[in-house]
Amino acid sequence: MGRVALVTGGSRGIGEAISKKLKADGYRVAATYAGNDEAAAAFTAETGIKTYKWNVADYESSAAGIAQVEADLGPIDVVVANAGITRDAPFHKMTPEQWHQVIDTNLTGVFNTVHPIWPGMRERKFGRIIVISSINGQKGQFAQVNYAATKAGDLGIVKSLAQEGARAGITANAICPGYIGTEMVMAIPEKVRDSIVAGIPAGRLGEPDEIARCVSFLAADDAGFINGSTISANGAQFFV
Ligand code: CAA
Repeated sequence: MGRVALVTGGSRGIGEAISKKLKADGYRVAATYAGNDEAAAAFTAETGIKTYKWNVADYESSAAGIAQVEADLGPIDVVVANAGITRDAPFHKMTPEQWHQVIDTNLTGVFNTVHPIWPGMRERKFGRIIVISSINGQKGQFAQVNYAATKAGDLGIVKSLAQEGARAGITANAICPGYIGTEMVMAIPEKVRDSIVAGIPAGRLGEPDEIARCVSFLAADDAGFINGSTISANGAQFFV
């Protein structure tokens, strides 16, 4: 039987492509979602991948949901912390609520997702932790003080976990997608989006499958020495 993979925010956008790719690679996949029941049902009908509903910002819900996934599919070998939100606003207009919503989901959500799975990975001496960060965690972004802070923080989580897990056969790596053609990016006002695309040397938005490709690479059993790294997939928009 294949290894078990959990993808948070795994029924839509980049997460949907990741779930499908891991299933195609032979993993038994569980995908979480936060609220959109209709999209989750359509995703399961199309892919046969079971979805689980919980809010990654809530530790108890995450721990209970993860316990259910492990009861259904077996111990989780690969976790892809992908769930994320934006609440963009120029800093002078950003509210404490917008700050906290994004911190709770994108940063604390990674803690809540990985922490309950970590002890089992240590015991079994195998784990793959893949965090979906962002180009905007690397370079910052106008109107994204909150989001950029979380995505930069995600890189700190990965680099620390990589050191803690290395001797237990656990790797932790990050992927920094650039602007990918998902609902999140399509929600940017068209004029602003056009100017962003004009600044991407590839001359186009990325495809969700191009991020899933990176996840597949990092999740593999023979990727064990790739640990604490960051893969940028941004069409040459930014170099670290
Ligand atoms: N750089 C410099 N100035 C910018 C700017 C930028 N990137 N974007 C907007 N501005 C300027 C505008 O030109 C405008 O200037 P003027 O007042 O002189 O006309 C001003 O900032 C905007 O002020 P507003 O009060 O009109 O702004 P607003 O409250 O309506 O907010 C916005 C608009 C939320 C900033 C909107 O422009 C927006 O959504 N921008 C895109 C932000 C972005 O890139 N988000 C990434 C989302 S995708 C993602 O996050 C996925 C990922 O990981 C890559």
